[in-house]
Amino acid sequence: MIVFASKYGATREIAEEIGECLEEVDLEVEIISVEQVTGVDRYRAVVIGSAVYLGRWRRRVKHFLTENEEILSRKPVWIFSSGPTGTGQPEVLLKGWKVPVNMKKVVKNINPVDVMVFHGKIDLIELNMFERLAINKMRIPSGDYRNVESIREWANSIISYLNDNYTGISGDPDTDNKNK
Ligand SMILES: Cc1cc2nc3c(=O)[nH]c(=O)nc-3n(C[C@H](O)[C@H](O)[C@H](O)COP(=O)(O)O)c2cc1C
Repeated sequence: MIVFASKYGATREIAEEIGECLEEVDLEVEIISVEQVTGVDRYRAVVIGSAVYLGRWRRRVKHFLTENEEILSRKPVWIFSSGPTGTGQPEVLLKGWKVPVNMKKVVKNINPVDVMVFHGKIDLIELNMFERLAINKMRIPSGDYRNVESIREWANSIISYLNDNYTGISGDPDTDNKNK
């Protein structure tokens, strides 16, 4: 399952790109907005992506991770953020930020396989007045800085992990050896 939390669609499109990569190697993928998730049990692996607004993930992602912390800690989980705009490595632009301060404990307990930050996209036309003021004040550049190559590269690392850690492409949650 790939869960996304997106306000203006940039994060959803990253989730879809990752989903396409996984489908290309015949993995069965469901891409679901965080508002629509009904359960986690039946998925053998979970990717979660959120847009970053003012240093935080979207509120629903916070709820999703908190409510499902225990079950997610028993599955292979990948987390990504779609955030920084501007040239340069995302982690440099964010000065090492990877996880919002208020989510560090939950993420630590979930113990994801990997946590990634991707460049994001800001379309000024879509923003409301407060958002425009905020990005002006924070000097955040607008534009689409997403990099398909780095998204696909990360998706390939997920595929490698799943290939190395599961018997058979159809998978079985019982073969989850994350905590072995
Ligand atoms: C008001 C506002 C605040 C933002 N704050 C941050 C931030 O603190 N850190 C960051 O990396 N990106 C920040 N961004 C950039 C967005 O996270 C980025 O554009 C993201 O890709 C948007 O995803 P979405 O289209 O899925 O909502 C901000 C954007 C806006 C409009």
